[in-house]
Amino acid sequence: MKTYTSRYPIDLAAWGSLKAHAKQQRKTSTATLFRRDKSRAERFSLRAGELVVDYSRQNITPRTVQLLTQLARQTDVVMARDAMFAGAAINTTEERSVLHVALRAGARDTFSINGENVSPEVRRVRRQMLRFVDGVHKGEITGAKGKTFTDVINIGIGGSDLGIVMATTALRHVASGLSVHTVSNVDGTQLADLMTTLDPARTLVVVCSKTFTTLETMSNANTARAWISRSLGESAVRHHFAAASTNHPAMDAFDIDPDRRFGFWDWVGGRYSLWSAVGLSIALGIGSVNFKALLAGARSMDQHFANAPVPDNAPIMMALLGIWNSNFLGTASQAVLPYDNRLERFPAYLQQLQMESSGKRVRHDGRDVRADTGTVIWGEAGSNAQHSFYQLLHQGTRVIPADFILPIRSSGATQAQQDLAIANCLAQADALMCGYSEREATQELRAKGLSSKRATALAKHKVHEGNRPSTVVMMKALTAKTLGELIALYEHKVFVEGVIWGINSFDQWGVELGKKLAKSLEPAVQDPRLAQNSNDSTRRLLRQAKRWRSR
Ligand code: F6P
Repeated sequence: MKTYTSRYPIDLAAWGSLKAHAKQQRKTSTATLFRRDKSRAERFSLRAGELVVDYSRQNITPRTVQLLTQLARQTDVVMARDAMFAGAAINTTEERSVLHVALRAGARDTFSINGENVSPEVRRVRRQMLRFVDGVHKGEITGAKGKTFTDVINIGIGGSDLGIVMATTALRHVASGLSVHTVSNVDGTQLADLMTTLDPARTLVVVCSKTFTTLETMSNANTARAWISRSLGESAVRHHFAAASTNHPAMDAFDIDPDRRFGFWDWVGGRYSLWSAVGLSIALGIGSVNFKALLAGARSMDQHFANAPVPDNAPIMMALLGIWNSNFLGTASQAVLPYDNRLERFPAYLQQLQMESSGKRVRHDGRDVRADTGTVIWGEAGSNAQHSFYQLLHQGTRVIPADFILPIRSSGATQAQQDLAIANCLAQADALMCGYSEREATQELRAKGLSSKRATALAKHKVHEGNRPSTVVMMKALTAKTLGELIALYEHKVFVEGVIWGINSFDQWGVELGKKLAKSLEPAVQDPRLAQNSNDSTRRLLRQAKRWRSR
């Protein structure tokens, strides 16, 4: 099966037309387009599962959408999508299929790789995992001293951490009662803090690592192991540890009880893995019913992605808008702004999803991409962000498109406060688009009684250029199901962008070099003389570090 097209997007007719169209579109005011076209909001809104995606504030016209749709056709987006769902080895550099969609499949769905049906094995591991989760929640599975677990420490990093942090934070309002803590960074401080507050007899440690070799994870896991063994005895390790991994020999060496190992497969990429056994700590945190709802939400987005025609397909449309903004309107970064504090880690989650997937400079076949890829993703929960960096969004010299994520029902206790969040979110989206002209500012200042001279001078500082694009992704409530839909929406968006650029969105060779260098520098931290092959700066810094380490 053909998995990617060899044609450069920049050589396609649609790309050329979009370039010419962008020149004109840059000068067009979106607010004016709204005034001219009463159906604009309806025309540029989509429904995908329980999500409403309103992209009417993007700097587009029907012609833009028509050309973007042509670009999707000419870059064979549908063929690539179908190849992914069919289990083709679209991760070409690692020669792997990419089938995270199989992890959230329904009871009757079947996914195959080279003719082998992987779905029964997926269901078997999920049953094993959720039996374990239920056993912990019911108090049937306890610690070595027979005490029920109250706390879980998930030890993992990157894709074995970010989804867990994000989802357990987002779904705190449906938490099971077990507190989930996460430990990722190599410096060990997260674990040090937890070891002083948690009761080891009531703590379950989940080591989450596809490879079970990652430096950060293994050094933290070894520290946690020493803590449990010191506090409760070596034989307690088997009772207090569980693992999600594909590396059985390494789990043997660590002495993870075979009944507490939850496997997955090489066709599950790290940043696409929260739906697999990597989600064990999520399921422990929110319960198996909610975990299944999370999967069901993702599945509903998968079905939408697999079946909706291109202009009505939310992930494809969002990808096309991403390409439009970055490759044609010249934006280099994208803000993600959720208006529910529980989604505060969603931007960090998207950073890995998007930047590890799209930060590539060569195509599948190794040729240079010849177009900008990987947008910088960043963001923060809405209201906090307003009082931090929105100044730059409104008046900075660079245009930064924004995605607003807006749940309508409060996930806390007070709808009145969520109503304020709704008002703020929509007000910000409008302010970014409509702006505030010098004339409006001058008039308002004059009306407040300022002299003409002072009003004219001050008005310049109050101008908001406007025409800053945004999309509002709205949902009735933040639930396990809608969170699943939201995550899958972005997963597929990132994939489609990669298809258009012709890159492999599923490898991450760019993280290897730094890891290799760190390994070679490890001994030099103790003895800087061993850094003779490093540059002068590194050698000097290591010498200074040694002086400070020993004093
Ligand atoms: O940072 C690189 C990376 O390979 C990520 O893609 C992955 O999510 C993370 O490391 C963790 O890897 P593992 O699950 O094997 O410990």
